[in-house]
Amino acid sequence: MLTRLKAKSEGELAKQICRVVLDHFDKQYSKELGDPWNTVRDILTSPSLWQYAVLLNRFGYHFELEKDLHLKGYRRLFQGSLPYYPKSMKCYLSGTPDRMASEKHQVGNLKKYYLLNAASLLPVLALELRDGEKVLDLCAAPGGKSVSLLQCAWPGFLHCNEYDSLRWRRLRQTLESFVPQPLRNVIKVSELDGREIGDAQPETFDKVLVDAPCSNDRSWLFSSDTQKATCRIHQRRNLPVLQLELLRSAIKALCPGGLLVYSTCTLSKAENQDVINEVLNSCSNIVPVDLREIAKNCSQDFTFAPTGQECGLLVIPEKGKAWGPMYVAKLKKLHSMKKL
Ligand SMILES: C[S@@+](CC[C@H](N)C(=O)[O-])C[C@H]1O[C@@H](n2cnc3c(N)ncnc32)[C@H](O)[C@@H]1O
Repeated sequence: MLTRLKAKSEGELAKQICRVVLDHFDKQYSKELGDPWNTVRDILTSPSLWQYAVLLNRFGYHFELEKDLHLKGYRRLFQGSLPYYPKSMKCYLSGTPDRMASEKHQVGNLKKYYLLNAASLLPVLALELRDGEKVLDLCAAPGGKSVSLLQCAWPGFLHCNEYDSLRWRRLRQTLESFVPQPLRNVIKVSELDGREIGDAQPETFDKVLVDAPCSNDRSWLFSSDTQKATCRIHQRRNLPVLQLELLRSAIKALCPGGLLVYSTCTLSKAENQDVINEVLNSCSNIVPVDLREIAKNCSQDFTFAPTGQECGLLVIPEKGKAWGPMYVAKLKKLHSMKKL
């Protein structure tokens, strides 16, 4: 039987930390991260310290909302600090763990904002989406990154895919809630195994985002079913195989010269750096793209752990900057494999 620790938050009494997951993470992450794991552990196990950024929906009116956020002490994230930062993307942060209420889905009404972990904007920004480009969001549900991509530019075509049918329905609802009809006309939502899209649509997209299924460190720590949690830990070692297959499919779907961003919300080296190193070692038409400039320019808002890679960043949560875990890697496809 598993012992359960109570989450430290007063307001989160329903959340219980799963001891078996915590022990497993302690073993792995104290080895992989060293001392910083103690701070990260404190944040991950204390939902009262978690922060939620507010991403405004550029398709909904938000002048009053912005005024309100300023009054509450929120400030704009990334203002002018990144090489690529579209003016149309507006994300607000509070220095304290304040959480705005989520808006209810109402048919015919666009939502004004999306609550998210601010680090999840990094993979979206790394993709540098421009108007008119064809983009694939390979693992898209519940849709946070698709919505964020649409704050950056008006793509020529956006293909959002999700394999799990329940989550696919949520994805559709998210897009309905945030995207106006004219823009929905350039969006396709599919329910496919992402591993098959590369063969079905070779060399189709200018940009591909692989926000991969991973061991989601935050949610795994609060698994309420201990048997399920134990089973997940055993199956964890299979995730890199799935992640690699998704990446290989994404590479096929990418046009020569196109950009690929891979992200996860785990600290696990096996699912992050090792997966990307394997792609770089096995695909001669793929090269790393340096992300260190992004890390340098947003070190005020995010804490990064060393990854040993120029093309890979790992955001780790810290008190007052409780964003992440989020790993982001950026790759470029040089040419088609057919030419080799
Ligand atoms: C990290 S989540 C994506 C989160 C999403 N990008 C967002 O920002 O809201 C990973 C998703 O991949 C989906 N998934 C798992 N296996 C897949 C596969 N073979 N093909 C496509 N999607 C898959 C999962 O169901 C899950 O919804």
